[in-house]
Amino acid sequence: PGSARVLVASNRGPVSYTLRDDGTLDAKRGGGGVVSGLSAIGARDDALWVCCALGDGDREAVRRGIGRGEDGVLMLDIDPDVHSDAYNGIANSVLWFIHHLLYQTPLEPVFDDGFRRQWRSYETYNRAFARALADRAADGAAILVQDYHLALVPGMLRELRPDLRIGHFSHTPWAPPDYFRLLPDDIAEQLLRGLLGADRTCFLTRRWADAFTACCTEVLGPDALKGTRIGVHGLGADAGFLRERAHRPDVEERMTALREQIGGPDRKTIVRVDRTELSKNIVRGLLAYRHLLATRPEWHERVVHVAFAYPSRQDLAVYRDYTAEVQRLADAVNDEYGTPGWTPVVLHVKDDFARSLAAYRLADVALVNPIRDGMNLVAKEIPVVSDAGCALVLSREAGAYEELGADALVVNPYDVIATAAALHEALTLPAQVRADRTARLAAAATALPPQRWFLDQLEALAPEA
Ligand code: G6P
Repeated sequence: PGSARVLVASNRGPVSYTLRDDGTLDAKRGGGGVVSGLSAIGARDDALWVCCALGDGDREAVRRGIGRGEDGVLMLDIDPDVHSDAYNGIANSVLWFIHHLLYQTPLEPVFDDGFRRQWRSYETYNRAFARALADRAADGAAILVQDYHLALVPGMLRELRPDLRIGHFSHTPWAPPDYFRLLPDDIAEQLLRGLLGADRTCFLTRRWADAFTACCTEVLGPDALKGTRIGVHGLGADAGFLRERAHRPDVEERMTALREQIGGPDRKTIVRVDRTELSKNIVRGLLAYRHLLATRPEWHERVVHVAFAYPSRQDLAVYRDYTAEVQRLADAVNDEYGTPGWTPVVLHVKDDFARSLAAYRLADVALVNPIRDGMNLVAKEIPVVSDAGCALVLSREAGAYEELGADALVVNPYDVIATAAALHEALTLPAQVRADRTARLAAAATALPPQRWFLDQLEALAPEA
């Protein structure tokens, strides 16, 4: 056994490296609730974060002896082809699609030889994590395995090291049994048994936990869950960090720039901030906004849709096509309704966290309409930093709905007419109602801060628990 007493495992780690022209390496820390929650382990010197070297910069860092565990991060240098099959092929094209109900089933999915080859890579990649964890963990150490990339790790690790206490956390939704069973039977079984290798298997909401339980019962039988506890930990927004960050000068500057783009002091703003991700439903959001403009001309010149859609998973053709469709539709709405003094859709695709915070502060309405989403932290972050109160239009298919639904305008994400109606209602909500609701949303959104989320899981894994 090794010496680490608390280990986190995830595909993407807390730091990434890029190689500068002068040959030096630039280290960048990741943002987001998960990183900040898991970073609670950084405070301990017996902790280790095991992740994957993802790009050339990361691999170069490993070659130079960085990320070998001394600094609390161990970066696994996995063969790039194996990683691509596991990450792009299985994790993002199969498992992500299954849990977010993204297949168009007359043509997809097709589980053929190519799929089987990728699956073997997924096993190899999971085994590399299991072995590294087994090598580095002290007797009885706690291991927190993250997400669908590493679904087989708990089972593999349990075989190598029965003494360890293993938790797994799914940051995605979990598919209902009928949809989960699109997967080949042996693969469905292997995935479930992989997760059931953990002492605790955890989800962001009760709904996803129940779906997992139902899959286990249907695929494996009623006794399958006996050795595993199911946990629910709803990750919240990091209020202290967000409020401080949102009032720095770079955010103020971007607020000024955004106000200029919006134009007219009395114009209302509908804000959305997402990765350009199929599950985020950006296209139907734009269709709903177009419907609003088509049916309620009183909003012409009086509202702007500020849409930030940041690039994601551009190695996959469907994501590239989706990105192009978002751009095309935004242009079409602007061509159809725009005037010299009014751009109805302001679309930005370059990732800029300070500008996201600026938009959060300014928003009159937040549009969060995913087809399906594990939680959705944007819905939780906006009420926390909003300057004057913000009405939230929220999909009932986002995990955040369980905690925020009572004070949001709730929509069926497929129904663009209902979404347009909700946008109209949100835009006309009286200021006091909006402010009261925002205060309640912010309280609900921060109930479980990231560090608490992490420590709760660690405590729940402790032997006496
Ligand atoms: C989102 C999902 C997570 C997932 C992550 C992967 O944040 O909610 O479940 O782990 O994306 O993103 P990446 O950029 O690493 O593919």
